[in-house]
Amino acid sequence: MTVRKILVTSALPYANGAIHLGHLVEYIQTDIWARFQKMRGNECWYVCADDTHGTPIMLRAEKEGISPEQLIRRVHDEHSRDFAGFHVAFDNYHSTHSDETRFYAEDIYKKLKAAGLIEVRAIEQFYDPVKKMFLPDRYIKGECPKCGAADQYGDSCEACGAAYAPTELKNPLSAVSGAKPELKSSDHYFFKLSDPSCQAFLRRATREVCKAQPEAVNKLQEWLGEPGDNKLTDWDISRDAPYFGFEIPDAPGKYFYVWLDAPIGYMGSFQNLCKRKNLNFDDYWAKDSKAELYHFVGKDILYFHALFWPAELEQAGYRTPTSVFAHGFLTVDGAKMSKSRGTFITAESYLDQGLNPEWLRYYFAAKLNGTMEDLDLNLDDFVSRVNSDLVGKYINIASRAAGFIAKRFEGKLLHAHFTDEFSADLPGVLEAAEEIAGYYEARDFARALRRVMALADQINQFVDKNQPWQLAKSGEHADRLHYVCTALINAFRLLTLYLKPVLPKLAQRAEEFLNIAPLHWADAGHLLPPAHVINPYEHLMTRIEGKQIDALLAANRESLAPAAVPADTQSLQRHAQHQQQAEEKMQQANHISIDDFAKVDLRIALIANAEHVEGAEKLLKLSLDLGPLGTRQVFAGIKSAYDPATLVGRFTVMVANLAPRKMKFGMSEGMVLAASDPEKKTAGLYLLSPDAGATPGMQVK
Ligand code: 2FM
Ligand code: ZN
Repeated sequence: MTVRKILVTSALPYANGAIHLGHLVEYIQTDIWARFQKMRGNECWYVCADDTHGTPIMLRAEKEGISPEQLIRRVHDEHSRDFAGFHVAFDNYHSTHSDETRFYAEDIYKKLKAAGLIEVRAIEQFYDPVKKMFLPDRYIKGECPKCGAADQYGDSCEACGAAYAPTELKNPLSAVSGAKPELKSSDHYFFKLSDPSCQAFLRRATREVCKAQPEAVNKLQEWLGEPGDNKLTDWDISRDAPYFGFEIPDAPGKYFYVWLDAPIGYMGSFQNLCKRKNLNFDDYWAKDSKAELYHFVGKDILYFHALFWPAELEQAGYRTPTSVFAHGFLTVDGAKMSKSRGTFITAESYLDQGLNPEWLRYYFAAKLNGTMEDLDLNLDDFVSRVNSDLVGKYINIASRAAGFIAKRFEGKLLHAHFTDEFSADLPGVLEAAEEIAGYYEARDFARALRRVMALADQINQFVDKNQPWQLAKSGEHADRLHYVCTALINAFRLLTLYLKPVLPKLAQRAEEFLNIAPLHWADAGHLLPPAHVINPYEHLMTRIEGKQIDALLAANRESLAPAAVPADTQSLQRHAQHQQQAEEKMQQANHISIDDFAKVDLRIALIANAEHVEGAEKLLKLSLDLGPLGTRQVFAGIKSAYDPATLVGRFTVMVANLAPRKMKFGMSEGMVLAASDPEKKTAGLYLLSPDAGATPGMQVK
């Protein structure tokens, strides 16, 4: 078999935020694929880096009172720790703030310029006169031009969902200094993606880059349009000082903006690896390179990787990507990750809670099928699938056989060849290697794991049929017992090999137990040698307990901290509208509209009377004075927390348009509002009160 040269990347994470489970969908996926390629004997390198440049990083460092260099060093350590914790094994994890990345950014820029593809144009933008900087859209706040909601960002309204230009905001203010921004003109540098040579190249070549994913090809078609549509717009590649990044060589005070900086970090990281490993950079990046180059990315940055980046490389005389593999976003229990629900789970918190990273690797792999569909982490399903597949089916095979081999046969396997019998008893276990490899190669990890688990079911049926514990009862079946257990140990070895790209640490421990060298795919062609001696079995994996998940959610709910700068600033700046649609859809699922909220008629109520209700355990009967709206009778479940006498004369807030409800003790005509912790049902209740001055019947909104 010829050895393929393969270079694989994951998108570079921003150096201003923690790695969370959403990020890990990509890194775990890429890691599985790179590990698989290495097991196949290919020369595969997996590189990545922190994306360190930009306004948010500069402002965050300033807020923390440290230099951007200090901030990105610290975050680099945190990210490296988190990735290692999930066994994401980069061959190099570098930084875009590096000599290598600067070299290639300048090199590509100079070549694009020489080709006549860089153009300078004056752009009008909001400028903060106090902070003396141009403001990215996300750093401008004001009133929504559509619905009037206050405190909205410069690009879209969170209340009504409208998208607009920052100049449309009413009463705009700088979110950095609070000053009123001014419109100011400045020169920006553009990469001419609309140039006929770029259009022609992209039409010719990029379908190839996306061919693995029909839905990506459709997107490309939409972006490119028909010949003559000229849908591709030129791309702004510069930002003005102050900015943390690389200054453009012949343009003092102008800095390379993300797409002429971040992806070049792929090259920078690889160049850095070349130095360490004595590799030839050109073998992988020169125009005539025979190596394969793959980028794993989220669907939100497909546009840049399938159009902008290949055009940049092509025009600068480098090779272009073999394929871009785009994936969907992570949801948790069917909804967008949420800090208030505790489902915005950081990598660090997952590991700190003592959860096994390979549980998550397995679950993600079991749901990844190589498409752009979103992936849902359903927490109940996570617990049951990991417990039943990994512990119940796979690990169980080893634990059912190992004891007999140790106690009855001194750790030694059968002293005979028995491949034919093995294949007859367990059809497919030895033969499925190439089929499973095909699924991994196509990034359909879900299918690979379904095949492995079907084999595991078959192997467990073989155990049930042969009942080794019965065979062990008398000495006369010793040979049969030896064969059955040897077959099981061999079957376990093969499943370990098939699962190894997903479960590298577990596989390593299994290899120690089996007393074998690290497994490669070629090892799938044979069984263990006769009379091979295995080591004593130690339990390889524990089950997940539901309470571990509860603790994880609680830890992430508690760690709610306001972001120093909007965490999504850079993404939102960078994403074209079409890329945001998917996110908006998810947001809609979790948000109500302002109209929905306006349906609730909240009013200030004076508690005119409060009394116990005979026979009611939890209720108090309240008489609420709503001023011009009259008096209402409400039964409120607040008896555990309040003595009725102390309530009389107090103001509170009530829902005045709740449909009246007939209760055992009479009609209830509304609801009073009280705070409580839903997790601690027995803890306190806290009735809401308005500030002094509110009068009965006033509207609350
Ligand atoms: O969108 C992002 O997450 C950016 N940090 C860019 C990553 S991709 C790459 F090209 F660096
Ligand atoms: Zn609005």
